[in-house]
Amino acid sequence: MAANYNNSAWFYDRLARLVYGNALINAQLYLLDYIKPDTHILIVGGGTGWILNELTQIHPSGLKITYVEVAADMMVLSKKRDTGNNEVIFINDAIENVNLSPDFDVVITPFLFDNFTEQTLHIVFAHVHSLLKPGGLWLNADFQLTGKWWQQFLLKSMFLFFKIICGIEASKLPGIEIYFTSNNYKVISEKTFFNDFIVAKVYRGD
Ligand SMILES: C[S@@+](CC[C@H](N)C(=O)[O-])C[C@H]1O[C@@H](n2cnc3c(N)ncnc32)[C@H](O)[C@@H]1O
Repeated sequence: MAANYNNSAWFYDRLARLVYGNALINAQLYLLDYIKPDTHILIVGGGTGWILNELTQIHPSGLKITYVEVAADMMVLSKKRDTGNNEVIFINDAIENVNLSPDFDVVITPFLFDNFTEQTLHIVFAHVHSLLKPGGLWLNADFQLTGKWWQQFLLKSMFLFFKIICGIEASKLPGIEIYFTSNNYKVISEKTFFNDFIVAKVYRGD
C-alpha cells in the first residue's frame, strides 16, 4: 500500500515544525544550494510544496521542475505555491507509476524513503535512478539512526502516528544508503541536523 498523506495535509507542516523546529526545512535548504541555474529537476514527495517557494527564492526563473506527489490534498496546497517564472509540471500520482523521460539533472527525495518497506523502496529507487542523467545530482534528506535511544523512540512514534492517520506501510527505517552505494553514487556533500537524527546528502551519479 502506498503511503497516503491526504489526511495529514492540513497539519503536516505545523506538526513537523512543532516536533523538529526548523530541522526538516534546514536539511532541505542545505540541499537546494547545490542546484545550478537552468536545470531540469524532479521533486518526489514534496508534501505541501513549501520547497517550491524556497527553490523559487533562489532561482526565480529558468528551472524546469516536474513535481510528483501521490496525495491529492498535498497537491492542492503545492499548486498554490509561488513558482515564479519557472516551468512546473505537477503530477498527482505515485512516482513508480509515472513514465517520464530520463533526462533530469537533479532529483530531490525529501523524507520520502522512510515511508516505504524494503520492497517498495527497491521499486521506487530503481525508477527514480533510471530518470536521472548520468553524472546528475540526487539530493536526499531523511532520518537516520546513530544509536541514541530517543531516535528510536521518535521514529517509532512517527511510524505509529502516520500508520494510524495516513496508513503508511513502513514500521521501521529501510536501509537507504545501500541503494546509493550499490548503484555507484558518490556522496559529494552531507550535513546532519537535529543531533544527527536527520541527514541531508548530495549524491552524484555515475
Ligand atoms: C513524510 S512526507 C514529506 C513531505 C515533504 N517532503 C516535507 O519534507 O515536508 C512524504 C510525502 O511523500 C509523498 N509520497 C509517498 N509515497 C509517494 C510516492 N510513491 N510517490 C510520490 N509521492 C509519495 C506523501 O504523500 C507525502 O506528501
